[in-house]
Amino acid sequence: MERRDFLKSTCLTCTGSISASWLIQACTPQKYITTVPERGNKLVIKKTEFTLLKKGKPIQQKFILIKPDNTQFPIVIYQLKENEYKALYLQCTHQGCELTPHETMLVCPCHGAEFNIHGEVITGPADISLTSFIITTDHENIYVQR
Ligand code: FES
Repeated sequence: MERRDFLKSTCLTCTGSISASWLIQACTPQKYITTVPERGNKLVIKKTEFTLLKKGKPIQQKFILIKPDNTQFPIVIYQLKENEYKALYLQCTHQGCELTPHETMLVCPCHGAEFNIHGEVITGPADISLTSFIITTDHENIYVQR
């Protein structure tokens, strides 16, 4: 299958309920990869996917979204440092709604739970951290182990 990706141009901030802490985060398009190559049990994502071209200028994204074929919910990958990443499954641990990722946190539109970008609960009703994935890297790629 040919690799295909596109920019999700909807405003992620506007898809859930409104919270003041979200409003400071800009409505920026996010990279959303729908076909993710696999090697063994690892998803392979190029590090360059974090760079978005806007009017010909590169913009470094804090996170990207991937949606492998056989998962119900997307996975968000945050770049924590130059070669440090965190991958989180976007299913709320309260009652299973899909989370909305932002640059500094994830928010559940159903009952308002909030998680930090390490997947830890900030605000309930959720009381369990998000499912995360083991990540390894090389000079070119990020590997998300399933
Ligand atoms: S399902 Fe996420 S807070 Fe209830």
